[in-house]
Amino acid sequence: MIPRVPDADAMRALRGALGAFATGVTIITAFDEALPVGITVNSFASVSLDPPLILWSVSKTATCAEAFRPTSAFCVHVLAAGQDGLAMNFARSGEDKFASLAWGRSEWGAPLLPGCAAEFHCQVEACYPGGDHTIILGRVLAHLVREIPPLLFHRGRFREF
Ligand SMILES: Cc1cc2nc3c(=O)[nH]c(=O)nc-3n(C[C@H](O)[C@H](O)[C@H](O)COP(=O)(O)O)c2cc1C
Repeated sequence: MIPRVPDADAMRALRGALGAFATGVTIITAFDEALPVGITVNSFASVSLDPPLILWSVSKTATCAEAFRPTSAFCVHVLAAGQDGLAMNFARSGEDKFASLAWGRSEWGAPLLPGCAAEFHCQVEACYPGGDHTIILGRVLAHLVREIPPLLFHRGRFREF
């Protein structure tokens, strides 16, 4: 069988088309052993109210991917307007993204970042294969919302209302 060669132009075109879908921006944190890890994510979506479930997908090449396995605790931080610098910090790969930040530990066992528009405290319910990503299904254990405007992402750029 002839191996399929990924077509770079086709992937760029698909990424561009997907960028027409405006989203919010989240940072998702967990502990990998004792080390805090976090990643900027816009694939976050609601799934179910009863039971309370959300999903997101993590690239198989993300250095933090292994931290998200069944029963791991994680926190979804929905970013607020003005937190684009924080989003860029967590969009860098591998480095100690927490070094210059004031962060805490939530009572549900995940690293907690201050000032976001909403928090979803979750446990990994299941992981599903999704091509070059892994789809993470999370059960929401607790949530919190603040009445502040969100950070948005559209066509590859951060935006605000
Ligand atoms: C706005 C935005 C949204 C992103 N969404 C995702 C996502 O849903 N899933 C993902 O795996 N990476 C996403 N990324 C890319 C990761 O944040 C980036 O690859 C990061 O460096 C991975 O960190 P790690 O390798 O340290 O785990 C996004 C980046 C940006 C700027």
